[in-house]
Amino acid sequence: MDWNIETILVGVDGSAGSRRAAERGAALARIRGARLLLATVVRPPEGWWGIGGAPPTPEAMSTALVEGQQKILAEVVDHLDLEGIEHETIEDVGDPSTRILALADDWGADLIVIGRRGANLAERVILGSVADRLTHLADIPVLVVP
Ligand SMILES: Nc1ncnc2c1ncn2[C@@H]1O[C@H](COP(=O)(O)OP(=O)(O)O)[C@@H](O)[C@H]1O
Ligand SMILES: [Mg+2]
Repeated sequence: MDWNIETILVGVDGSAGSRRAAERGAALARIRGARLLLATVVRPPEGWWGIGGAPPTPEAMSTALVEGQQKILAEVVDHLDLEGIEHETIEDVGDPSTRILALADDWGADLIVIGRRGANLAERVILGSVADRLTHLADIPVLVVP
């Protein structure tokens, strides 16, 4: 079959796992001449988001959260060799796995790349919950990087 990988979406949460995912995503983008999207989703603190309410806009979020998100993206962009790779950073707000699936759809991604583990410490969990949900729910391939 033809598999044109034109857009690769990487989930970035500041963890070592997501940094490794971003390295793989960038390497693949280079090989395939694909566009690389680096997306970080901030989950609003409990209470920001009443039942049935809409998530706060980034503008309404606390400066600390938004700055944290920008820092996470800046760090990963600094770390990667993106010379010659078309790339975008995306800041989003909401439930991480839900938003990553929506972003993949909105941007027409052909592949999602994530770390096996993320920034939440739960040593007993083998696969993180965002990774677990994405691998179960995505209707495009998901590359899970150890
Ligand atoms: N808020 C987020 N925004 C973007 N990507 C995320 C986010 N949370 C997790 N991910 C992606 O999912 C991977 C697995 O993280 P996760 O399932 O949350 O594991 P953990 O429970 O160890 O935090 C991360 O390496 C990252 O690629
Ligand atoms: Mg996590």
